[in-house]
Amino acid sequence: MGMKFLSVVGARPQFVKLAPLHRELVKQHEHIIVHTGQHYDYRMSQVFFEELKIPDPQHNLGVGSGSHGEQTGKMLAAIEQVLQQERPRCVIVYGDTNSTLAAALAASKLLIPVAHVEAGLRSYRHGMPEEINRVLTDHISDVLFCPSDVAVRNLRKEGIGKGVHVVGDTMTQVLKEVDAKLGAEVPQSMGVRPGHYLLATIHRQENADSRENMTAILDALERYDGEVLLPLHPRTAKNLKGWGMMGRLESMSHVKVKEPLGFLTFTALEKFAGHIMTDSGGVQKEAYYFHVPCTTVRDETEWVETLEGGWNVLTGADKGKIESALSRPRPSKDQVSYGDEHVCERIVATLEAELR
Ligand code: UD1
Ligand code: UDP
Repeated sequence: MGMKFLSVVGARPQFVKLAPLHRELVKQHEHIIVHTGQHYDYRMSQVFFEELKIPDPQHNLGVGSGSHGEQTGKMLAAIEQVLQQERPRCVIVYGDTNSTLAAALAASKLLIPVAHVEAGLRSYRHGMPEEINRVLTDHISDVLFCPSDVAVRNLRKEGIGKGVHVVGDTMTQVLKEVDAKLGAEVPQSMGVRPGHYLLATIHRQENADSRENMTAILDALERYDGEVLLPLHPRTAKNLKGWGMMGRLESMSHVKVKEPLGFLTFTALEKFAGHIMTDSGGVQKEAYYFHVPCTTVRDETEWVETLEGGWNVLTGADKGKIESALSRPRPSKDQVSYGDEHVCERIVATLEAELR
């Protein structure tokens, strides 16, 4: 007999992680989707449900933006109510956002088993909001789905061994499913030459909220010799406008500033990029999947395998390091694989075995 599962999502990358698991779960089970409302703009939320064919959530908590404590606290109270009403057999949480932690905490206090998709990742950067969320979530999860052996070892170091499974990465499963549909007409329609442009995203709090870091990043973009596509996360756009720095960016004739893009548009741009520059977790991993060299504007990465063979290079927000990383030759080394088309089959089979 099927079981009742409940997933909590709220931010852009979580909709991607949810999509293939939803499809797999509903073959045998009931699956309730709860959207916390952390991301709410059409381009940050609804477009992913449409493009990835995820049904509308049964519950939208409408929490919206706020400080970490305020946002997480509102989610915690609202998720608890939904859990009391729905009484699922297991709550599934994804990644490392405030929505992840709030859901894991609400469920664990109600003694509902928690399954964490993308467990065991660590930056070891003290105070990074995502690091706090993922460490705490892992410690109150009952079933932990790791994308790699490195993640399993990270958990072992913290004394977590029970319920840990290496299944691969659900985002990689999504990429394998959509890859064949992603064509070069997408970059062409945006006026850039396939294989010859830089695709860039910046949204990490340590960069987007720092005028100094954003100045260094804009300096590096300004000096970049080639076309740049820059879909701006709303956090970054809001801050640049607030600091009066948007005019400078828009005056760079080789930089096309865009609204956040839909998933199929964005991944097509990744596939045909000459280089990717980012501080996003998901985008680093997607660059790696598409064999596009990546420059990561951070001091550390959770996806350490991408550093091997020079596919990904960490620069921090250092103008000089960014410039030299962007001009390095294309790596040719082999890669490890983060997953296949069966990641979510493994997750569901494991959940069935663990929860019976
Ligand atoms: C969140 C996650 C981060 C993840 C990112 C994915 C946390 C702590 N952070 O960061 O780990 O990488 O999502 O994109 O959970 N805003 C809008 N419209 C929206 C959503 C946000 O305008 O639909 C603006 C608001 O001004 C808001 C700001 O962006 O204050 C930041 O949003 P928030 O969800 O708090 O954090 P993200 O930076 O998106
Ligand atoms: N993404 C997108 N449109 C954009 C930027 C990113 O569809 O304009 C997708 C990207 O392909 C990846 C996910 O959003 O699947 C990554 O989300 P984000 O960078 O916001 O968060 P992170 O992965 O850092 O948590």
